Amino acid sequence: MASRRSERRLAAGAPEWAGAGPLRQSLSQRAGDALREGDADASAILVSALRNHERVERATHGFHAYPAGLHPDAAAALISLGEGPVLDPFCGGGTLLVEALIAGRPALGCDINPVATLVARARTTRTNEAERTVLRSLCRKAAEAARRAGQQNHASGGRDHSMLQAPVPDVAWEWYDPWAIVEIDAIRHVIGKDPLARAVLSSILVKVSRRESETANRKIEGTRPPTTTATLFHKRARELARQLEDLEARMGSAPAEVRVRVHREDAKELRERGEFGLVATSPPYPGVYDYLPLQQLRLAWLGLDAGAAMSAELGSRRAFRSDRSDAVADWKADTQKWVRAAARALRPKGRMVVVIGDGLVAGRPVDSLGPLGEAARAEGMERVARATVERWDDGVERMRPEHAVLYERTS
Ligand SMILES: C[S@@+](CC[C@H](N)C(=O)[O-])C[C@H]1O[C@@H](n2cnc3c(N)ncnc32)[C@H](O)[C@@H]1O
Repeated sequence: MASRRSERRLAAGAPEWAGAGPLRQSLSQRAGDALREGDADASAILVSALRNHERVERATHGFHAYPAGLHPDAAAALISLGEGPVLDPFCGGGTLLVEALIAGRPALGCDINPVATLVARARTTRTNEAERTVLRSLCRKAAEAARRAGQQNHASGGRDHSMLQAPVPDVAWEWYDPWAIVEIDAIRHVIGKDPLARAVLSSILVKVSRRESETANRKIEGTRPPTTTATLFHKRARELARQLEDLEARMGSAPAEVRVRVHREDAKELRERGEFGLVATSPPYPGVYDYLPLQQLRLAWLGLDAGAAMSAELGSRRAFRSDRSDAVADWKADTQKWVRAAARALRPKGRMVVVIGDGLVAGRPVDSLGPLGEAARAEGMERVARATVERWDDGVERMRPEHAVLYERTS
């Protein structure tokens, strides 16, 4: 973590830093430098939000991996910057929504990715002990069925598939051991449409595959012993039940109306009007991830329909790879659309706080701050504070600026 001495305050009225180039003299290679401007208290909170990186175990954080998730403490800090119901139009795995619940604030999360909405819903489900017992017992039955199927398949040298209950997605044969396939199939059959149990299954689908990681689509060699999938599934289900119980405990005596809604919705076309005191979000960074293709295995196994999400996804890496200048123009136009939709969802004097990084495509930076600022101004929002921190990006082995900006509706 960088020391506070490495923060540089911009004098009021100083010219705005362009946002795309590297910061001067970074004191620490990895934590980088920080730049802040505007309201002193708010900008200090924004800097702290950008600097969190220690592991946090509370509530349902850590239940399901999701690319580019916010840090839970950062999410809590962002929520403290406004009042009333919270909207996260790019909710991903729902980190911010979990923290909204803990803060006793009702919230709405939207995402076009059906895996994101499945995970965000599961992580923010309010449960009682009876419901958690049902989850544990359903998942235990599923794990037992999976264990039997996996052992039978393994005993046949991976050739016996007579126990399969439903067609297996084509992509699975390439990415899983045969016994893992029959185990996943058995789990899928027993849990049916139960949303929490489906989220548990989703949480293990990459781990039990031959894929290198959540964000690297490379194949690793080797096999895993039979029943690994069944055992991991059962363990995760018990973990989720425990985490949901912890979430309830942290919410204390919050009334039943404090709930999270999660919609599968394009952030550019939100229908909400004047309902929210705070929009707090982290949209995709330009050209960094392909959120939907990264979920290929989950979409296939869970029968989730990507629908129009492929073309609606903002700032995808594939768009920047195919035509950079079109992608930059689309990025600006899309930023205007989602900011307009977010502004309409805000109450008068409502606030919007955004965490976003610049893109780095083929070694060249893509500015994210300029288009965001222009779009906010066009919607009658004033900038209250801003912070920028340089962070090490392992993917490109370079420092990359990350920003947190707070705006307020002027009317
Ligand atoms: C940086 S991630 C959000 C991560 C989230 N804050 C978390 O903590 O898990 C950005 C999200 O934006 C979603 N997204 C991309 N284009 C979208 C669009 N047009 N409308 C809504 N969501 C979109 C992606 O599916 C992805 O989940």
